[in-house]
This record gives sequence, structure tokens and C-alpha cells, in this order.
Amino acid sequence: MLEQDLAQAYPLHLASLRQHCDAALETVGRDHLAVAAGHPITRYRDDLHYPFVAHPSFRQWLPLPDAPGSWIVYTPGHKPLLIFLQPRDYWHVVPDEPDGYWVEHFDIRIIREADQARALLPKDPSRCAILGQARDAIGDFIPDPPQALIDHLDYQRAFKTDYERLRMREASLLGARGHRAAEAAFRAGESEFGIHMAFQHAAGQTESELPYGSIIGLNEHGAVLHYMHFDRTPPRQGHSLLIDAGAQSAGYASDITRTYAAPDAGDFQALIDSMEQLQQTLCGKVRAGQDYRALHLEAHRLLAGVLHAHGLVDMSPQAMVDRRVTSAFFPHGLGHLIGLQVHDVGGFLRDPQGGTQAAPGDHPFLRLTRTLEAGMVVTIEPGLYFIDMLLDELRQRPEARHVAWERIEALRGFGGIRIEDDVACTDGDPENMTRDAFAALA
Ligand code: GLY
Ligand code: MN
Ligand code: MN
Repeated sequence: MLEQDLAQAYPLHLASLRQHCDAALETVGRDHLAVAAGHPITRYRDDLHYPFVAHPSFRQWLPLPDAPGSWIVYTPGHKPLLIFLQPRDYWHVVPDEPDGYWVEHFDIRIIREADQARALLPKDPSRCAILGQARDAIGDFIPDPPQALIDHLDYQRAFKTDYERLRMREASLLGARGHRAAEAAFRAGESEFGIHMAFQHAAGQTESELPYGSIIGLNEHGAVLHYMHFDRTPPRQGHSLLIDAGAQSAGYASDITRTYAAPDAGDFQALIDSMEQLQQTLCGKVRAGQDYRALHLEAHRLLAGVLHAHGLVDMSPQAMVDRRVTSAFFPHGLGHLIGLQVHDVGGFLRDPQGGTQAAPGDHPFLRLTRTLEAGMVVTIEPGLYFIDMLLDELRQRPEARHVAWERIEALRGFGGIRIEDDVACTDGDPENMTRDAFAALA
């Protein structure tokens, strides 16, 4: 079913990508776009490579996340060319013969060695915009794309085609499967490592296939925003689990966070319930015309309401935001663009010409400052954490006298809460890909 849908949606995706590339090339006065897939990076003084993932701008053309040394060449008005590296190599698995719904849309040339690409690339590099890293250079063919071209393409990448949304729904479904298994593993008393394994097994992806390193924190570890350590032994008692883990479909990501509490976690469970409501309110505001910066500030106001309602901070919600008390509990951005990269490019672009829009002064970690439009997919991931370093700072400030420190102390062992969905902005109601994926498993 999915394969058929993809086959149907792909030609329009390609047409839209070509259109954006036509405009970008015209802007910079170049004749061809050449996109490197990239090469595996070798570890320092070693013969081992880091896991390879093709550059995002390559993956946007093709569902081939694992094609090192390959290139796409696009010349407006012509069928795109895929220079496909299939080395003669008995040490590694060689990429399969090109196959599937996309093949007929490309002129495909097979090469056996990476350097053979040069003969098939355009003759004059100065007429090309070359996307890739410096080390992808072949002879005089050196990646150095004009910034105006990058800005144009990055800006447009925020608008997902139907094909891309199919991919992201699939990534969401795989992620939701992983999350279901992870919750069961938590309830069964597994360690962080055990939960990690349960997630991957159910999502059906190896660690290097995941779109980002999973964050799986039991108890106070939930307060470490990028906790990437996996304890092998379970704590004496698992009070809470914060799991931020996603999956991918042909290089498109999902990014999902859930927080769970043990049955005896009364106050903390009540906080999770309030955060769940708050998060769903914000997801409902993913609508065309919504300034994402304003939504981030709205998240702070709503969080202030939660802190007040639960007796944690006794200040008016607006004063709590103005005096940056909420930032001590919610120190990251509300979310970001998502797609070919979990933190997709172009979050600060105001226009395709490269004009930017900064995050509000007190909120430097916000990575998305654009006004939402139909076609964008964003994450909505408010949080509420008990982070020692930030609490210690708050304790030194005049606002500290409004904080119920003994209640905070009782909650510290639960770490924190984050709830994260991937939401597509449409012409009407938002499409919550994450909730839909969990519902499809029910
Ligand atoms: N998983 C990274 C993030 O939520 O942004
Ligand atoms: Mn995220
Ligand atoms: Mn996340």
C-alpha cells in the first residue's frame, strides 16, 4: 500500500524539487546543479568508518540514504542524471541495482570507482553549483555552492510535498511502534539499555539507521536534556522514563518524546497530565499564519499556568515569563522544522533571498522563527524539568522566595517531562503525525 502511494506521489515531488532548483540556479546564474551523496568518514588513524548517511540534499532527490560516492546532476529542462557508484568490492555490501518507482525518472550511469564520476560530471565546474563537503571534491570539481542558492533551497525545503509527508508518516509509525515497546520495557523494570534495545527492535532499525541518538533517561536522568548514556542496570526503583527517540523512512525523520511515570508517582503524574494538555493545546495552533516565535512564548505562558496551578511557583503567569522564571524549568525551544534532518535547515529564514529572523532575545535556543505555512512540518515539544544547575541559579535570584522549594525537592528524582509530536501545518486543521501513528497501532 505504502509503495503504491509513494510511486504515485513521487513524480510531483520531483517536479516540485526541479522547480525550486530551476529558480535557485537562475538566481545564481549557473547551468547545472551537482549533488554529492558524500563519502564515509574514517576514524582518526583507523581503518574503520563512522556510519554513513548520504547528504540531505542528495536524499531529497532519491530514496537512497546509503549510496556513498554517488552524484546527482541536474540541468534544467533535462532528466536528472544519477551517477551511481557500485564498486567491485568483496569486503562490503555493494549498493543494490537501482530499483523502484524512482528509477524511470533518472538517467542512470553506473561507475565502479569514485573518481570515474568526474568524466560524467559537467565539463566546466564554474558553470555548476556543487553541493557537498570539501572532501567530496573530484579533481577540479570542488563543492563551493553560492550562499544564495543554499538559502533558496533551504527556504523551500520547509514545504513538504505529499511524497515527503508519506515518508514522514511512515517514520512516525515506526517510531510509535518503538515507543510502545519502550513503555512496556519501562513498566517491566528494564534498564535504560534494555529500553533502548526494545525501542530499536520494535522500530526495526539499527542504531546507525535512527535519525538521531535516542535519549532514554530513567528517574533524575530525565533532567539531562541530551542524556545519551545507557545505564546497563535498572535503578532500584524506576519512577519515571523520559524517552526521546525517532525512526526514519528513506532518510526522512520522526522525532518523538514521551514521559511516563510509575503508578505511585502521584504528583508527578498530575504534572505529566497537565503538560499533556498544554502540549495538545499548542499542537492545535500549528496553523497557517501562526508566528512560531509567538507560539514559543505562548508555551512559556501556559507553562507558568501549570507551575502556578501545581503550587510550584506563586507568581502571576505573566510575571513568571517576564522574569524568566519559566526558563529555569523549560530551557530549550518549543520545536523546529523536521524532515530530511531531524533539525531541518531554514528555521531562521524569512524569505528565499536569505533574510533571517532572530529568536527572541531571552530565548536563544529557539531554532524556528518563521511564520507557519501549509506544507511545513514542525515539532511541538514543551518541557518541564528539574535541572540542578538551573534551580541553583534560580535560588540566587529575588524570585526564589516565590518558589515552593520543598515541593521541587520532592519532584527532583523524577527528572523532567517532555512531550513531543511532529505536526504538519495544512490549509485547515493541523495533522498530528505522531498522534495518528500511535492511534493506528491501537
Ligand atoms: N531529539 C532532538 C529534539 O527533540 O530536538
Ligand atoms: Mn525535537
Ligand atoms: Mn526529540
